[in-house]
Amino acid sequence: MRVKKTFNESEEIVVSKKEIRGFILGCMEKIDCDAEHAQQLADILVTSDYRGHYSHGIQRLHVYVNDIASGACAGTGTPKVVKEKGATAWVDGANLLGPVVGNFCMKLAVKKAREFGIGWVVARKSNHFGITGWYAMHAMSQGMVGMAFTNTSPCVFPTRSSQKSLGSNPICMAAPATNGDNFFLDMASTTVAYGKIEVAEKRGATMIPSGWGADAGGVETHDPKVVLGGGGLQPLGGQEATGGYKGTGLCMMVEILCGIMAGSAFGKNIRQWQTTDQMADLGQCFVAIDPECFAPGFAGRLQTFLDDTRDLSPLDEEEPVLVAGDPERGHMAMCDELEGIVYKKSQVVHLVKLANDLDIPMFRAKRLNDVLACESDSD
Ligand SMILES: NC(=O)c1ccc[n+]([C@@H]2O[C@H](COP(=O)([O-])OP(=O)(O)OC[C@H]3O[C@@H](n4cnc5c(N)ncnc54)[C@H](O)[C@@H]3O)[C@@H](O)[C@H]2O)c1
Repeated sequence: MRVKKTFNESEEIVVSKKEIRGFILGCMEKIDCDAEHAQQLADILVTSDYRGHYSHGIQRLHVYVNDIASGACAGTGTPKVVKEKGATAWVDGANLLGPVVGNFCMKLAVKKAREFGIGWVVARKSNHFGITGWYAMHAMSQGMVGMAFTNTSPCVFPTRSSQKSLGSNPICMAAPATNGDNFFLDMASTTVAYGKIEVAEKRGATMIPSGWGADAGGVETHDPKVVLGGGGLQPLGGQEATGGYKGTGLCMMVEILCGIMAGSAFGKNIRQWQTTDQMADLGQCFVAIDPECFAPGFAGRLQTFLDDTRDLSPLDEEEPVLVAGDPERGHMAMCDELEGIVYKKSQVVHLVKLANDLDIPMFRAKRLNDVLACESDSD
């Protein structure tokens, strides 16, 4: 049973995707969010947890709720195309939920890629859009290579800086191979996403690895509480000596494709994370490319490349060589076996307050040990 490798504690619970989805929809209905927008948010939060990216799943629900309840983000409306030329479009996100803006833009990019071979869409006035992979996944499901990027609130110390001025600005590229296999790189431009440190702290970690975070003055720390209590993230690569300047460059590259190109807020001027006194005005970028515009047989060659990589002799027989997307595939297979998503109770306990505040029932969960016991009975 795959799950035993990852979880073996009695504090773990299993929640069906249907329960989580219902909880999200219940919360969003209470704050008068457009039902169709709520569905789009639920899709991405559930998918995030299902893929194992707990940093951007239901643990972030209260942030979206606060944004809409406070009026900092709009719960109704439609994104609008401001300017369009051939394969490109510039979109005004109308301050709607990030997933609503992102889905609109990526669908438009795919439509353009069908016509022109490529579609490149940038949006201003958007909000936090969750896992970047969601949007690239849509392009990939249409046979395209998909890429997506967003800027975020400043939480990163650029190399040599004692001040935060960059976001964790994620990058995703998803490319279809054969028989449903794919390359799926979905990553922050920092060593880890900020939410991963939130999750680590909620799960009881007192130490984080080198290269992840820094204290309020930009000095490396291994204490998650110091990072979350006013500190920040290190760019991908960590310190200068280990190549952190490349992460700084990636954060800036994403900002150029997003905030600078879209005319939205950018860099240190984006509102602070989880504040609601002004709109986030995030910039985002969505690209779809039809690989068949180039050498025929892209999917087959990519499959050979993925297989060649996975088949490399590993350093440790217990740890096979993976390609981007494989860890998430393993996590989804585990969830499928369990018929639900596994959480440590401490990861979701803050949602009890949200349920109470909004006066909706908390989702129902099973104890992981009970689920495993049932499975071994039926083996
Ligand atoms: N919306 C936002 O503001 C925002 C900001 C930052 C990150 N994010 C999201 O957070 C999520 C987590 O980001 P992260 O950087 O912490 O992810 P991560 O470090 O867990 O994974 C990054 C990538 O590395 C791949 N990977 C992991 N282990 C591997 C291995 N051993 N071999 C080969 N490939 C491997 C994964 O498949 C993934 O594509 C992403 O979905 C990202 O889009 C969103």
